[in-house]
Amino acid sequence: IRFDVVALGGAIYDIIGYVGRFPEVGETVNGTGLMEGFGGKGANQAVACAKLGGRTAFIGRVGDDGTGRATVENFRKWNLDASRVQLTPGASSATALIHVERSGANKVVVVNGANDHVSEGDVQDAADVIEASKVLVCTLEVPKEAVRRALEIAARRGITSVLNAAPEPSSMPVDLFSLPSIVNVNETEAAQATGLKVETVEDAKDALRSLLKDKGCKGVILTLGENGCLYGHRDEPENVVHVTTESVSPIDTTGAGDSFNGAFAFFTACHSELPMRERLSRACAVATRSVLSHGTQSSFSTRDQLPHALFL
Ligand code: RIB
Ligand code: NA
Repeated sequence: IRFDVVALGGAIYDIIGYVGRFPEVGETVNGTGLMEGFGGKGANQAVACAKLGGRTAFIGRVGDDGTGRATVENFRKWNLDASRVQLTPGASSATALIHVERSGANKVVVVNGANDHVSEGDVQDAADVIEASKVLVCTLEVPKEAVRRALEIAARRGITSVLNAAPEPSSMPVDLFSLPSIVNVNETEAAQATGLKVETVEDAKDALRSLLKDKGCKGVILTLGENGCLYGHRDEPENVVHVTTESVSPIDTTGAGDSFNGAFAFFTACHSELPMRERLSRACAVATRSVLSHGTQSSFSTRDQLPHALFL
């Protein structure tokens, strides 16, 4: 085993404009601040894990451009294995145009670029990295064939896999629900995946049970923002666990789900002795910190910035 966690997903350059309130259609509003940085759900989850001290690798693509090269540099800065990150001639690095309101809420447009070029072959070529890892995390920012291949490689070796069915699970093929050890969604994604409305914690529990019973998921984590998260397993679909988190006043919630997923993968790989509820609770604690500062990866805490007790 060379890695605690390997992530397959999007590396995206984030450009964030902060506003008092979102503009209406056709309206222009004055921004209050600008922030740029490295993002993408897949890359964020990998960096979140690496910042906690997990030995981490990333599989993906960037454009053959300045942003792409800087993205690879950023991975190296966090001690992440980027040997399976390819520069893609003719494709630009993915970019996200993000608006964040004073309330901390965000709206995002992603221009996918090189992420769309991640292939089944890329993943097959990285099979040795997946097989040398304890936990695989995947996102839907890259083509489904590539995600499926990674999940199959993990399943064959008995490696724990987490599919973060984001950004948009409504057209997710049914086998992708049942292949991973755990499917992870937020409230919006749970609604898209099930067709149910998810407004309250009770709604979310119903959606989670539907993911287990109707979609065939083995395990499901449903993140609830300030309300923490839910977990359920198909062996006991009626026994949905609710883990709450500390209440804070958010500054920027962008990437909080990635902070959670990266931290959950870290605790699963590096503290497998901890019960599920405890791993979820610690991941919530880490993610809650991330909403207290601006940006995505830049808002994730390193191990030394967090309470020592989280790592016992
Ligand atoms: O989950 C947050 C990420 O999703 C951002 O970094 C941005 O890249 C968006 O795609
Ligand atoms: Na943040």
